[in-house]
Amino acid sequence: MRVTSLFFLLAGLTMPIAAFAQGEVSVERGLQVSIIGGCHDCHTEGYSETEGKIDPEKALMGSSVGWRGPWGTTYATNLRIDASVMTERGFVGMLKRIRTSPPMPWYNLRAMEESDMQSLYQYIRSLGKHGKPAPSRIRSDKEPTTPYVQLVPPQMPRN
Ligand code: HEC
Repeated sequence: MRVTSLFFLLAGLTMPIAAFAQGEVSVERGLQVSIIGGCHDCHTEGYSETEGKIDPEKALMGSSVGWRGPWGTTYATNLRIDASVMTERGFVGMLKRIRTSPPMPWYNLRAMEESDMQSLYQYIRSLGKHGKPAPSRIRSDKEPTTPYVQLVPPQMPRN
């Protein structure tokens, strides 16, 4: 009996701090999913430039730096606006069916568990005021007025 409790005590001490129970839905897990899922890389202004610091004022509010390629110029959208006008169910349904232009890796969302998507929604909702939308996408024959990244992918489909 004593040996068993010592074992559990030690096992408890070596558990990683940020371990989440499988299927757990929480704001904290949503934050972790958003980091590992790479959402801040594009949807949070200044995140890449600061090597991974999330400014709570700007988290997931989109970006005014465009991505220009054969599809035109796209802007990572303000996800707080999406979450503010959707129910959790609606948001999860949208992520399951999502298909966008590049460089949004919409196909990666297919690997997410439903509880990841629910947690993401709860995290985004917890971020507070949603602010302004990101610039609208621009047709490929128009010159963007914002800074942009020029992408020249080989044989990239237009969609
Ligand atoms: C490489 C940059 C990049 C990454 C990484 C990225 N996105 Fe995006 N995302 C974009 C861009 C650019 C758009 C706009 C695409 C368009 O206009 O067709 C977009 C669009 C979206 C949309 C559509 C919003 C709408 O209102 O139509 C959702 C939802 C979204 N992203 C969620 C996510 C989530 C969740 C993650 C993390 C798992 C993520 N994105 C990671 C760049 C990115």
